[in-house]
Amino acid sequence: MTEPTTAQPTDYETIRVERSGRVAWITLDRPDALNALNTQLMQELVAAATELDRDDSVGAIVVTGSEKAFAAGADIKEMSSRSTAQMREANHFGPWLDFARVETPVIAVVSGYALGGGFELALMCDVILAADSATFGFPEIGLGVIPGIGGTQRIVRAIGYPKAAELVLTGRRIDAAEADALGIVSRVVPAAELRAEAERLAESIATKSLPALKAAKAALDAALETGLEEGLALEAERFTALFDTADQKEGMAAFSEKRKPAFRHR
Ligand code: CAA
Repeated sequence: MTEPTTAQPTDYETIRVERSGRVAWITLDRPDALNALNTQLMQELVAAATELDRDDSVGAIVVTGSEKAFAAGADIKEMSSRSTAQMREANHFGPWLDFARVETPVIAVVSGYALGGGFELALMCDVILAADSATFGFPEIGLGVIPGIGGTQRIVRAIGYPKAAELVLTGRRIDAAEADALGIVSRVVPAAELRAEAERLAESIATKSLPALKAAKAALDAALETGLEEGLALEAERFTALFDTADQKEGMAAFSEKRKPAFRHR
């Protein structure tokens, strides 16, 4: 296992950012509030992710929390007394759009509670690796509100309407095994193995050619956002555009020469 080194601004208060080779780790760090996503945490997380996205030495971004909580949702105490006008004024959830626009692959590594906005944050990521201790759910309906950072849209796309509707309308919490069976998570591993497995997974993505990773992510996104013909056209264009990259030449030469490719990420 590679020891992570801090290589990003250290003035964040609600997250920690560390680098390990081509993998960047963002750890949510509000332990007293089970990583509830208040405005400061949202701004710091989005700022860190967009900055890492501009850095070609980063091939994968991991977002994780603590053993007890990935994130227990938006910060209820921060928003409880606000009016609709104040919520609009605060643009409470707008910055999450920038997080969802990150082009570098993002991996959610989830242990413990991923509720409400925490679940929605995981759904914004490309891959969700969960510990067997993970718990997912949309408790918002029991608070008199609904998911507000993409939950209703992404859960329907992930698992289909009927199963999504049950989760959103009842607020029922599900464990990692049920999340796995529903197809919400990419994979479930024993809690004790989560960190090592996350490192292996992130490394296996981050060492691939960055232009190819970004093209793959854009094409996968298109499958959710466009019709089939438009998606096929985008995939074909992104595939074709990679033939002007050094990494495509290197990847295919390495295959012929029966060696591992040495990607330069351009
Ligand atoms: N917002 C603010 N504070 C929260 C929080 C949240 N979402 N979740 C937990 N906390 C705080 C608790 O208030 C508590 O603080 P105090 O010690 O100051 O009282 C601390 O974190 C520890 O929490 P608990 O004592 O409740 O811990 P627990 O182990 O007994 O329960 C839990 C854990 C089941 C996750 C419980 O904390 C809980 O139900 N949290 C709220 C979950 C929730 O409803 N999330 C949805 C929020 S709304 C939303 O997310 C909208 C959206 O779509 C953006």
